[in-house]
Amino acid sequence: MCGIVGYIGEKNGIPIVIEGLKRLEYRGYDSSGICYHKSGTLRIKKKKGKVSDLEALISKNSFGNIVMGHTRWATHGKPSDKNAHPHISMNKKISIVHNGIIENYDSIKEGLIQRGYKFKSETDTEVLVNLIEYVQIDLKVSLIEAVQQALTQVIGAYSIAVMSSNDSSNLVLAKKGSPLVIGVGQEEHYIASDPSPFLKYTKKAIYLDDDEVAEISKNKLSILTFDKKIKSPTINKLTMELEEIEKGGFETFMLKEIYEQPKSIVDTLRGRIIKKSQIIKLRGFNESVDTFKRAKRIVIVACGTSWIAGLVAEYIIEGLAKLPVEVEYASEFRYRNPIIYKNDIVIAFSQSGETADTISALKLAKENGALLYGICNVVGSSISRLVNVGTFTHAGPEIGVASTKAFTAQVSVSILIALAIAKLRKQISKNDFKEITDALLSIHEKMQYTLSNCNNKIKQIARKYKNSRNALYLGRGLSFPVALEGALKLKEISYIHAEGYPAAEMKHGPIALIDENMPTIIIATNKRNYEKIFSNAQEIKARNGKLIAIVSQGDNQISKIADHVIEVPKTNYYLSPLINTIPLQLFSYYIASFRGCNVDQPRNLAKSVTVE
Ligand code: F6R
Repeated sequence: MCGIVGYIGEKNGIPIVIEGLKRLEYRGYDSSGICYHKSGTLRIKKKKGKVSDLEALISKNSFGNIVMGHTRWATHGKPSDKNAHPHISMNKKISIVHNGIIENYDSIKEGLIQRGYKFKSETDTEVLVNLIEYVQIDLKVSLIEAVQQALTQVIGAYSIAVMSSNDSSNLVLAKKGSPLVIGVGQEEHYIASDPSPFLKYTKKAIYLDDDEVAEISKNKLSILTFDKKIKSPTINKLTMELEEIEKGGFETFMLKEIYEQPKSIVDTLRGRIIKKSQIIKLRGFNESVDTFKRAKRIVIVACGTSWIAGLVAEYIIEGLAKLPVEVEYASEFRYRNPIIYKNDIVIAFSQSGETADTISALKLAKENGALLYGICNVVGSSISRLVNVGTFTHAGPEIGVASTKAFTAQVSVSILIALAIAKLRKQISKNDFKEITDALLSIHEKMQYTLSNCNNKIKQIARKYKNSRNALYLGRGLSFPVALEGALKLKEISYIHAEGYPAAEMKHGPIALIDENMPTIIIATNKRNYEKIFSNAQEIKARNGKLIAIVSQGDNQISKIADHVIEVPKTNYYLSPLINTIPLQLFSYYIASFRGCNVDQPRNLAKSVTVE
């Protein structure tokens, strides 16, 4: 949640920071603000609403060569001008932008009130900035020392940037739990929650680690650990290109990302299937092969769409490799004293690699001796650095808040891992291995075909159902998690209530909802349970429900009774989520667009959930 951007150098940092905040709006978009130095004072502009509302407030002539900004996703205090960041201390000496949560802010606030401090906002961040100011005045120390001292009193997660009215050459940063990266330019530095705001200016990046503070000026940088040890920074070379984070002619990032899926699957699979020798080449897997040999089970932890990808992985790994898999919501896992064995492999699925609950679940698993395996999309992210081994999904930056291409990339990595384990455990024949890998290597063509051929039809169907109040998604086997994902996409971007169910469960409750207004989307492409799902389809029609069926090309049973039919290419059962998810993404997308919703930035959501 929340995005931080900063600039320090010779240029005017204000437009740089504003542009950077627009790139980070996916992290939070209920209010934003900037702070810069002017004539020995800290100038703050902030506004409820989008970054464009903030931009309108700032005069074109404003100049600052040390600037920091913030785009907010509210945690403490509702979205408002006064709760927006940056926050300034009571004596106007120090300002701060903050991503994260200060859990013990109440008790700190109490102590500061007793010392005469007054507060204007309802935020935890205003408490932190006043604490830093108090510590600095009380101990007569430098800003960096005051930040360090103040943070020893804080429980919670944060990345912060801090400015002082007395110092127009330095910014102080600190990180614990939430991400912060420094861009290294020529006589200038940038800071951001991810590198996208400064990609245009530099590809050199330093990721701060937890429990580190840094002081940056335009040409100097020093990083200290919380126990005051000097750290020599590692400069990473970013491989991301600017075009990857632009809309490239599409109306929205989400539509662009849906259409990028054939490419992102090719990128994710590249070099990982050696056909001739029937080898799956995954460094993370190979480095931990002995643990995979010993493991009695895999536990998958994740949230949201990534959790659903974990469920898909469960079906595939158990189906192909016959190794038990448990899939857990990271938030539940961490608080229910889970039983974790030494030989367990705990796999985290995370697009951002920054999801707080997933990080905490991993830390718990680590304490209990499990091997941590990360499946992340963001290189340099907290999860990718926390795990013992892992595999990146090379889906490219996902900016639309609703996850699309990251999901299918996670599914493709799951198939690779399942094949690797299946081979290791001698559970798969050469023929089956060949059939699946051949299908996988050409799946992008079928995905492309699905996008090109289904788009218009789905748009028409979406127009018809755009005013629905509810929707039911049904699938069996591997299409059950796909149904969950379809329902989640519809809910989050169109605000229509939707439920995903295993089709056979319908008669144990949800069937009561079926009437002539209720659309049911049924995923019926798989041969192995076709007759059963056909019966479910008949049950819906017998109650006058509206039926939208996703079927394989050439289907002539369900197609006859459904109100709308979307035909997709046939593929191997284990690969079917890669195809079947696409029409559901498009369906949600068009329904949300027809309802006038902001598809890329749905209300109340944020791309990266760095708080519990
Ligand atoms: C849904 C969505 C969220 C994320 C979830 C986990 O479209 O995007 O449900 O999947 O917040 O995020 P990551 O994958 O970054 O850990």
